[in-house]
Amino acid sequence: MKVLLFGATGMVGQGVLRECLRDPGVTQVMALVRKPSGQTHAKLRELVHGDFFDYRVVEPDLTGLDACFFCLGVSAAGLGEAEYRRLTHDLTLAAAETLARLNPAMTFVYVSGAGTDSTEQGRTMWARVKGRTENALRRLPFKAVYLFRPGLIQPLHGIRSRTGWYQAIYTLMRPAFPLLRRLFPKAILTTEELGRAMLRVAREGAPTAILEAADLIVLGAPPTRSAAP
Ligand SMILES: NC(=O)c1ccc[n+]([C@@H]2O[C@H](COP(=O)([O-])OP(=O)(O)OC[C@H]3O[C@@H](n4cnc5c(N)ncnc54)[C@H](OP(=O)(O)O)[C@@H]3O)[C@@H](O)[C@H]2O)c1
Repeated sequence: MKVLLFGATGMVGQGVLRECLRDPGVTQVMALVRKPSGQTHAKLRELVHGDFFDYRVVEPDLTGLDACFFCLGVSAAGLGEAEYRRLTHDLTLAAAETLARLNPAMTFVYVSGAGTDSTEQGRTMWARVKGRTENALRRLPFKAVYLFRPGLIQPLHGIRSRTGWYQAIYTLMRPAFPLLRRLFPKAILTTEELGRAMLRVAREGAPTAILEAADLIVLGAPPTRSAAP
């Protein structure tokens, strides 16, 4: 499976990249990045790109791909609706429309968030914008589109958020995660589970397009070894 990854330097994207590189069924991961990350791996190819609203110069590299894991995103904190919509809906759709045209057999997985508003009419700005983004993605002619709606995510394996104040919160919360996971076993997933869930839906599909944290925890469970005969 050839995977295209957006947001590979972010918290979610780093987790997804790790699982893709560990998975023997993934032959190549192409990460579209603003700046080289410095990470090297035989299966990883980084494509440095300047304008995430226009993909014409990189189109020749964006063919023959089986799955796109779209983990790029910004926090709405401090942004007005127009700017958040530009960086969320417009940027994502610019990429997805290009990819659907070049890869009709592609499975596209988008990370939105718990509480996303599919009606696009609610009172919470970020939820309306993510809902509009999800709805627009579902209309594109991909093989399949899956919308991941995680809530709180526990970063594992030294993975860090690119958003400073998020990282500060994760650092403070680190000791509490094991207890929180016990108290809310269907609500908090790890970066590892999220990455495995993406690979699983790309391979096997899922019963519904919208997948909440509880669904992602099930999909991201480690494969069970079959009992010896
Ligand atoms: N973290 C959570 O607990 C959580 C929970 C639910 C949903 N989500 C969603 O998951 C997505 C990713 O979150 P995250 O926590 O991984 O964020 P993050 O750590 O802040 O990373 C953001 C990623 O997006 C890239 N990016 C941001 N703006 C860009 C732009 N204009 N052009 C190109 N690349 C851009 C960053 O690239 P650079 O390295 O170049 O800046 C980075 O790779 C977001 O949509 C978020 O809402 C996160």
